[in-house]
Amino acid sequence: MCGIIGYTGVLPAKDILIDGLERLEYRGYDSAGIALLEDNNIILKKKTGKVAGLREAAGDIKSDSACGIGHTRWATHGGVTDINAHPHKCGQVALIHNGIIENYRELIVEYGLNEKLVSETDTEVVAALLDKLYEGDPVCAIRKAVKRLAGSFALCIMFADKPGKIYAVRNVSPMIAASCDEGSIIASDLTAVIAFSKKYFVVPEYHILTLDKNGIKVEDLKGNVVTPEILEVNWDITSAQKGGYPHYMLKEIYDQPEALRNTVTPRVKDGLPYLLDDGIPDDIFKEFQNIMVVACGTAMHAGMVGKALIEKKLRIPVTVEIASEFRYKDPIIDEKTLTIVLSQSGETIDTLEALKLAQKKGSKVLSIVNVKGSTIARESDYVLYTHAGPEIAVASTKAYTVQVAAMYILACKTGLERGIMDEASARDFMAKLMNAGEIIEETLKNANNIKLIAEEIKMAPDVFYIGRGLDYTMSLEASLKLKEISYIHAEAYAAGELKHGTIALITENVPVIAIATQEDVYSKVISNIREVKSRGAYVVLVSEDDEINDSNICDRQIKIPHLEGEFTAFATAAVLQLIAYYTSASKGLDVDKPRNLAKSVTVE
Ligand code: F6R
Repeated sequence: MCGIIGYTGVLPAKDILIDGLERLEYRGYDSAGIALLEDNNIILKKKTGKVAGLREAAGDIKSDSACGIGHTRWATHGGVTDINAHPHKCGQVALIHNGIIENYRELIVEYGLNEKLVSETDTEVVAALLDKLYEGDPVCAIRKAVKRLAGSFALCIMFADKPGKIYAVRNVSPMIAASCDEGSIIASDLTAVIAFSKKYFVVPEYHILTLDKNGIKVEDLKGNVVTPEILEVNWDITSAQKGGYPHYMLKEIYDQPEALRNTVTPRVKDGLPYLLDDGIPDDIFKEFQNIMVVACGTAMHAGMVGKALIEKKLRIPVTVEIASEFRYKDPIIDEKTLTIVLSQSGETIDTLEALKLAQKKGSKVLSIVNVKGSTIARESDYVLYTHAGPEIAVASTKAYTVQVAAMYILACKTGLERGIMDEASARDFMAKLMNAGEIIEETLKNANNIKLIAEEIKMAPDVFYIGRGLDYTMSLEASLKLKEISYIHAEAYAAGELKHGTIALITENVPVIAIATQEDVYSKVISNIREVKSRGAYVVLVSEDDEINDSNICDRQIKIPHLEGEFTAFATAAVLQLIAYYTSASKGLDVDKPRNLAKSVTVE
């Protein structure tokens, strides 16, 4: 949460910073600001609202300074105001921050900072503290300050009397850096850096960086110089652009076939699941007795799809926990449990802390992560990277389907290693999984029909999703997607559970989106649909059925391709994503940046 960027080099910094903030905007979009360092002077511009507003407001800055920092905010401490926006300037110091300083109140009292403060933020306290500790040596001041900070932080700092220099330090909150011919750049994530360099490094925690136009010095808190490991990204700037689509979300829905192929194909050898190139040994699949899946939001829903498959096919118990609950419930796991952690960003703080707790309890952690080199990836015992490319829309789509595919690979590998699946059935399963991209391509041909249905439900105050088994897990994700981008209250219900209370809410024309793709429970779901239909619901049926001309069952139909059991998940996901997308788009909402949200949730 919050996007930060710093650039120092040979080019004018203003536009580089604002362009970078636009790319980072998905991390927070309450307000934005930049600071430029010029002639021992710090020029500041900050503005509530989106980065486009800042760009306009910054039009009057004539400086061609080649050194500056920029921030796009997701508010935690203090309301959304110009004053609370970053950068914060105090005396000689200007800084930007992503994270939360937990002991900011104590610091105010201890260092008598009160009269230096004008905002309500925890961040400004760090600026004031640094200004107080600064005696001409920035690294020394930062070292002293960092030792006193409790909480998570990624900080980029400029000192008015140190032209051309940016200093940075972090704990937990993500930050990467790169140097190239045009200078040095530092940012919350790659989307802001990729235009300059495909090579980068993850800023090590509690190390102080000094950036200038010639490169980046990294030193630990004792002053020892460190050489960080250089990573290389396997996508380019075009992957982080809209590519002609009106919104990132739609582009990312259409990216799914390729994302699935990129994720699955490298994990198939001689038709069988193969994970040795990922550094995941075959033996681990034989050793555990049960699986604990831990994640948040959409990633957790992908874990639930995995659970439905693993329990059904392999008869191995799987528990799925919301990371923020797992952390505080003294979970029942030990060395016989394999913990699977799912995270697109690899930075979600609750998921990260849950991972650490699982390891502390003796469990090995295998994570399914999209962002290379992210904290969760680095902390895990094993990592299975999904190759979705950058996901910019706040609402996750392609990251979800590749997470489901990754769970399917793990399920098949476990089945094979344990002799629960023979080679022939594992080959058959992997062949079907390799076809998941085509399943989505085929399903997306329904887009126009789905668009019309979205028009019909867009003014409804409530929408219900129902399904059984796998389709119930799909409903959970569908309702989250609709809620977050269309602001319609949506609920997912196990179809058989409706009549135990919720059916009281079904009245004339209430939309119920019923998913009936699983053969073993198909007739049961149809009975549940009849129950809501007879109470006046407007029913949209998602199934493999050819046209059903029975107004006692449904008002609209969305047909998915004919698929075996668990593989319907890919088709259903695409349908449900499109329903949410078109509902939001037809309401004229900001699909990619829904209110109150941000990508990459790095606060608890
Ligand atoms: C919803 C969404 C979120 C994320 C959740 C976890 O569309 O994207 O629910 O899935 O915040 O994020 P990651 O996967 O980055 O850990």
